Amino acid sequence: MRTADRLNKLPPYVFATVEQRIAAQKARGVDVINLGIGSPDLAPPKFIIDALYQSALRPDTHGYAGYYGTPALRKAISDYYARRFGVEVDPATEVQPLLGSKEGLANMALAFVDPGDYVLAPDPGYPTYSMGALMAGGEAWTMPLHEENDYLVAFDEIPRDVAAKATIMWLNYPNNPTGVGAPMGFLQDAVAFAKEHEIILCYDNPYCDLTFDGYVAPSVLQVPGAKEWAVEFNSLSKTYNMAGWRIGMAVGNAEAISALTTIKTNVDSGIFRPVQDAAVAALTGDQSWLLERNGIYQRRRDIILEWLPKLGMSAHPPKGGLYVWAAVPEGVNCEDLAMEVLEKASVWMTFGTAFGEHGAGHMRLSLCVSEGRLREVGERLSRAHIL
Ligand SMILES: Cc1ncc(COP(=O)(O)O)c(C=O)c1O
Repeated sequence: MRTADRLNKLPPYVFATVEQRIAAQKARGVDVINLGIGSPDLAPPKFIIDALYQSALRPDTHGYAGYYGTPALRKAISDYYARRFGVEVDPATEVQPLLGSKEGLANMALAFVDPGDYVLAPDPGYPTYSMGALMAGGEAWTMPLHEENDYLVAFDEIPRDVAAKATIMWLNYPNNPTGVGAPMGFLQDAVAFAKEHEIILCYDNPYCDLTFDGYVAPSVLQVPGAKEWAVEFNSLSKTYNMAGWRIGMAVGNAEAISALTTIKTNVDSGIFRPVQDAAVAALTGDQSWLLERNGIYQRRRDIILEWLPKLGMSAHPPKGGLYVWAAVPEGVNCEDLAMEVLEKASVWMTFGTAFGEHGAGHMRLSLCVSEGRLREVGERLSRAHIL
């Protein structure tokens, strides 16, 4: 069978490969503790599930739900941006609901990348930014994130000829995997860079409501004039513990949203109506539970931060997101370490290079595991004497 050339350029999605490996271990009866992915282990509150259920009971909610999302959902998203960030987005033209934000990230490249075009993607970074570029026949140009620069992109290090060929720049703060937030001044620089080079600034913000120690994360759309060049991607996956439900959104520049929607109308057929109705409930209902939920993640974070140094690893407390980004001792290969930890302690952590070559020397530990299990990870690791 001859597959398309683009498939040869595409490495297997790292988390899919790992999922298979862990499933094989579990099938053999091994009690693996998986700190690999950021899939919330807590359920959404009952009022959101009730909205799903009530909608699913109706006979008229099971057909195709439309390409553009219900007017109620578009309005709920627009109202959320107004309430949360003080940002006005027109529900009719500047909002597009997504089947989870990941499809939007990949489809954005199909809408804006031609062969020969560059996509600027942070490294370490969420793999879909560069994979979308490759699937569209373009190239990913990596923007290294260095600890010395607080893991912020250094725009002045992007060569002018690269910027000239770039059609999309991806940024993501609170950042996966490093956990840092972006100051407003940085977002202003990002918008200025996008404007100067006429690049669409795609700001991936799924962790904006998953923050610690009182940190309030901004939206790039708060920068005056941002809508001229920016689209923000957001998601109910992490904020509302709805990762499996597959619902997210793109908001911002109307022309970019319309291009993305044209791709989507040809690829998918909309979001299951009860999921949309539940999303409206999530976005418009009581938000106070989020603070309590973030407290749970923060306590988990602190447990990891407590045992990490005893094992020779170190980390800055993340400001947001679902991960601790831990530096391994000098000279240790993170991929080898991940395999050894899996073998000797039955714990899976994602090695830093899964997020790009600049992730070397790091491991990413997910907070989506209970406090008890996280303590057990610390015990297992110290018993295994790996580091
Ligand atoms: C930075 C980032 N962007 C996007 C996503 C995709 O989220 P979803 O497709 O569930 O909305 C994730 C998921 O882990 C992520 O970490």
